[in-house]
Amino acid sequence: MPLDTTSHKVPVARSAADLRSAVAAWRAKDETVALVPTMGALHEGHLSLVDLVRTKANRVVVSIFVNPTQFAPHEDFSAYPRTEAADAAKLEGKADLIFAPDAADMYPEGFSTTISLSGVTEPLEGQFRPTHFAGVATVVAKLILRAMPDIAIFGEKDWQQLMVIRRMVADLDIPVEILGGPIMREADGLAMSSRNVYLTPAERAAAGQLNVILKETAISISAGILIPEATKAGAAKILALGFDKLDYLEVREAASLKEFPTGRPTGPARILVAAKIGKTRLIDNMPV
Ligand code: PAF
Repeated sequence: MPLDTTSHKVPVARSAADLRSAVAAWRAKDETVALVPTMGALHEGHLSLVDLVRTKANRVVVSIFVNPTQFAPHEDFSAYPRTEAADAAKLEGKADLIFAPDAADMYPEGFSTTISLSGVTEPLEGQFRPTHFAGVATVVAKLILRAMPDIAIFGEKDWQQLMVIRRMVADLDIPVEILGGPIMREADGLAMSSRNVYLTPAERAAAGQLNVILKETAISISAGILIPEATKAGAAKILALGFDKLDYLEVREAASLKEFPTGRPTGPARILVAAKIGKTRLIDNMPV
């Protein structure tokens, strides 16, 4: 099927075959290719990833696919914002191709394969969303195998996801360079997220304090306070802000996401949080 170039200015491929033929045409000219996997509802965070890989590859493909397999049945799959026309407009002049398959193309009748990782998937998000990373790993592997890019980039806001993808790519010898893009923040420091649109004004105000508490907790650990003590104080502050539930506030080894058994960071460390306010679950992280 020819590329859909009528509806949006950035051409849209809907099938693996169309994506592959566009990539093959670039490869024939010795051009390099970067992939930016997204679920759409694009914001400045996504666009910063596109801008970053633009400086590293000749061609940029942005995939837009709300992946059903990474949502649990009680999660927001059907409510997740779907804004393809607005996304395509934001990508004008930035991306060379949008890859927007439908679920039947990605998961045809009889689809039976799941990529699941142990270790890095188990703590933090893995405790609260036990099927999430298998859905992410499987769809990301499929997107990479379909596009065969030189580079794929993921936002550091989903830090654990980035570590899971790096692990999968290393374990399966997938020939792609995985880059992480820095977290983009609103003026008050709230990490940009497609889910921020769910917040009421009062929730939005409290949400803007999450990063402040994260930073204070990271600073107190760097100043020598033990991790359990500092995170306990941080957790109390988050709940006092009006968050309904704190799933975790933890400091972990940055790459393996293992705990520091002595209660003090002994190498690169990351503080990570997930907390629910109203109907919205927010995550954030930063280096310690
Ligand atoms: O981070 C996301 O938007 C998604 O988890 C991803 C990587 C596009 C896979 O569906």
